[in-house]
Amino acid sequence: MSLILGIESSCDETAAAVIEDGFTVRSSVIASQIATHAPHGGVVPELAAREHLKALHPVVTSALEQAGVTLADLDAVAVTQGPGLIPALLVGLNYAKGLAVGNNLPLIGVNHFMAHIYGAFLDGGAEELASPESYPMLALVVSGGHTSLVLVESNGEARQLGCTIDDAAGEALDKGAKLLGLPYPGGPSIQKAAANGDPEKYDFPRPLTGAAGKALSQENLYNFSFSGIKTALLYHLNGKDVNDPQLVADTAASYQRAVVDCLVRKTLKAAKDHHARTVVVAGGVACNAELRRMMAEKLPKGIKLKIAKPVFCTDNAAMVGGIAWHSFRRNEFSALDMDSFARLPRFVRVPFI
Ligand code: KG4
Ligand code: ZN
Repeated sequence: MSLILGIESSCDETAAAVIEDGFTVRSSVIASQIATHAPHGGVVPELAAREHLKALHPVVTSALEQAGVTLADLDAVAVTQGPGLIPALLVGLNYAKGLAVGNNLPLIGVNHFMAHIYGAFLDGGAEELASPESYPMLALVVSGGHTSLVLVESNGEARQLGCTIDDAAGEALDKGAKLLGLPYPGGPSIQKAAANGDPEKYDFPRPLTGAAGKALSQENLYNFSFSGIKTALLYHLNGKDVNDPQLVADTAASYQRAVVDCLVRKTLKAAKDHHARTVVVAGGVACNAELRRMMAEKLPKGIKLKIAKPVFCTDNAAMVGGIAWHSFRRNEFSALDMDSFARLPRFVRVPFI
């Protein structure tokens, strides 16, 4: 049996987890910084780094305690290397390096994107992940910082087919909520307000989906754009009373429908074009009930849908400790001088195939 401590600090969650043999989550502790960033309506990188510094040691200590283990029981330390906010990443990375050196443990740097995909297979997905029948696998990774379609081939090569050319979907929801006077983070607030609204009441644009009858350029086939929906919301609200609960509900429902519609249409197109046999939806926005429902409804029956459990959708360290086990098994470790990175490289090899 191998136990890996995972550490995550790429954005505004400080997280640590102990994972047994890649899939069994022995503990997963998350300290959220929502209260710190809420007054700014989004994540401030420098503030995030300072909060990670305060939270990391207590979070790691509770992850070990909850798993009933000590540092001496661990086989490796895994940490998110990128993509993410560099000041935030550096805190986790340096802490993990210190822990590894001080306890003579191997260090494993983890790609946050691939870890999100892996999160859909934690706690019981080992067979599906290992089966050649599951590939090619198309993943929609959608959060406050990212909106990307990543194709994982059966040979373990992963490449980004497309991403947002402006805002991430989560960012559009967060900023949309702010315009509607709803609390941060906006995704859950919009979902809540939308529950009492009519999603067809207002017509928001569906950028880069070809919905306006304009053919898409080759380079934008799998790209997303959310800034136009946000601007449309701003104009829609002009002169209206955001204290009117029905207006807020109908607007939230219509706005959420537009964002989800774009995500689903693009994912379906990419899945069909690339003959995907599995579609994975991961990242914070994958918690969204409308996205989960619509994806399940629209995906052709022959394609398997894997959506991470809500606790493994938002940033967490279980996905980090889990994916790292596959590198551990192959004795693939990271050097102590490994650096953080901000953006997803175009091609990546996933360790789990
Ligand atoms: O993955 P995550 O925790 O952090 C990063 O951004 O990396 O994702 C956070 C994002 C936020 O934009 C938040 O509004 C969104 O996920 N989110 C949701 C829901 N829960 C969280 N969006 C829509 N519906 C939800 N239920
Ligand atoms: Zn994330």
